Amino acid sequence: MAISTFKFILIAISIFIPPSSTDQNDESCLTHLFNSFQDPMENLHNWTKPTFAKPCSDFTSNLAGATCNNGRIYKLSLQNLNLHGSISPFISNCTNLQSLDLSNNSIAGIIPGELQFLVNLAVLNLSSNRLSGEIPPELPMCIYLNVIDLHGNELSGSIPPQIGSLVRLSAFDVSDNRLSGPIPASLGNRSGNLGRFNVSSYSGNKGLYGYPLGPMKGDGLSVLAIVGIGLGSGLLSLALSFTVVCVWLRAAERRTAAEQEVKISRAMPDY
Ligand SMILES: *[C@@H]1O[C@H](CO)[C@@H](O)[C@H](O)[C@H]1NC(C)=O
Ligand SMILES: *[C@@H]1O[C@H](CO)[C@@H](O)[C@H](O)[C@H]1NC(C)=O
Ligand SMILES: *[C@@H]1O[C@H](CO)[C@@H](O)[C@H](O)[C@H]1NC(C)=O
Ligand SMILES: *[C@@H]1O[C@H](CO)[C@@H](O)[C@H](O)[C@H]1NC(C)=O
Ligand SMILES: *[C@@H]1O[C@H](CO)[C@@H](O)[C@H](O)[C@H]1NC(C)=O
Ligand SMILES: *[C@@H]1O[C@H](CO)[C@@H](O)[C@H](O)[C@H]1NC(C)=O
Repeated sequence: MAISTFKFILIAISIFIPPSSTDQNDESCLTHLFNSFQDPMENLHNWTKPTFAKPCSDFTSNLAGATCNNGRIYKLSLQNLNLHGSISPFISNCTNLQSLDLSNNSIAGIIPGELQFLVNLAVLNLSSNRLSGEIPPELPMCIYLNVIDLHGNELSGSIPPQIGSLVRLSAFDVSDNRLSGPIPASLGNRSGNLGRFNVSSYSGNKGLYGYPLGPMKGDGLSVLAIVGIGLGSGLLSLALSFTVVCVWLRAAERRTAAEQEVKISRAMPDY
């Protein structure tokens, strides 16, 4: 009797607490993200404060570009919106996020390493922005990543080798950045049924080398070239100083000749 009453109370409580009506994590994530973006075209005009506390009504979203699942944000598709600003590290509070697409905007700053806390993240498309800094070495902590598209940014540094161990990775593009160093063999030489990526995933990065790109070019200058330049400039300066001396000697010669002439003309009597 007492037990069934207890059960009843439990059930009653669970009915009267609606599942994730407001989610503090999503609210924190959206608030900070919205604040870190600049939105000159006002494409996010319905991202207003009251909606951050309740971004979802079960499966429908109240925010442009957001998709909900069971009361939580699971997809942010904010491509082609002319967004500026940066990506807030509080993005990591959207803990149910599976897909983040901010492609083709003007977002600058770094890719926050806090992305590693998005354990469900499968799609990351940050292509065609102005992101700089390194590819976060912690990114491969998101083990469900299928898509990493970072092409067309200003990213520098090297490619974290752990990316090669992402077994689900089927699309990878870091072309047209400022990356350098070797393409990790774990990524360039993936074998078995792991997705493999060709030259087009890596092209447009001056300092990047190794399969499937060519071998290291050795910073542009070979030893032979350096020796050649040294010898060449040595010879050149020798030739230059020789010319200077010659010109100077010539001038001196002319001067003495002219002086001689003056002396001679002075010595000549006027008739
Ligand atoms: C905000 O815009 C999206 C898409 O444009 C729409 O689905 C949503 O209902 C809007 N939300 C509100 C609160 O107006
Ligand atoms: C990028 O976004 C702009 C609008 O900001 C749009 O005109 C252009 O077509 C988009 N490019 C791609 C490749 O989607
Ligand atoms: C949100 O993210 C920040 C930065 O990663 C973190 O410090 C904080 O604990 C997270 N949680 C909440 C509820 O704000
Ligand atoms: C990433 O976004 C760009 C621009 O919106 C799109 O062209 C590209 O196909 C996307 N990448 C992947 C791997 O889907
Ligand atoms: C990667 O594979 C290519 C072609 O199969 C091979 O030429 C190259 O030596 C390999 N590199 C490494 C580091 O294993
Ligand atoms: C590289 O792979 C992509 C698909 O990932 C394909 O569309 C493209 O044609 C390939 N390019 C070359 C040069 O093989």
